Amino acid sequence: MSMHSITLRNRDNTTYQVDAKKPLLESLRAQGVDLPYGCKYGGCITCAAKLIEGDVNQKAQVALNNRQINEGYVILCVARPVADCTFDIGVESHDRLYRNPFLDPLKPHELKADIASPAEDPVK
Ligand code: FES
Repeated sequence: MSMHSITLRNRDNTTYQVDAKKPLLESLRAQGVDLPYGCKYGGCITCAAKLIEGDVNQKAQVALNNRQINEGYVILCVARPVADCTFDIGVESHDRLYRNPFLDPLKPHELKADIASPAEDPVK
């Protein structure tokens, strides 16, 4: 079984060993970490945490747009670690998760991949 260390920076850098094949939400909750969650299939964003260091596979998530992914957000209920990782967890980590779409609309390249347009248009 392949394992990775997960460090929770905003929980006194507590470290957990988790199975690389299991979703992080499941592994961490099984070890007593209190984490918010809702749908558990990657659709509602409740379980988002911020990746500070490391790497995950979260291809199954559909809740995050590219801007949120680029800011390090990870959907813990579907993400599997592919390296040792450090996270900020819980609602405190959601400081940059949402923004007011009227004051600060997304740029076209920040939308979800299937509706996003390239960051720059080389034709113009
Ligand atoms: S619990 Fe809904 S996206 Fe993870």
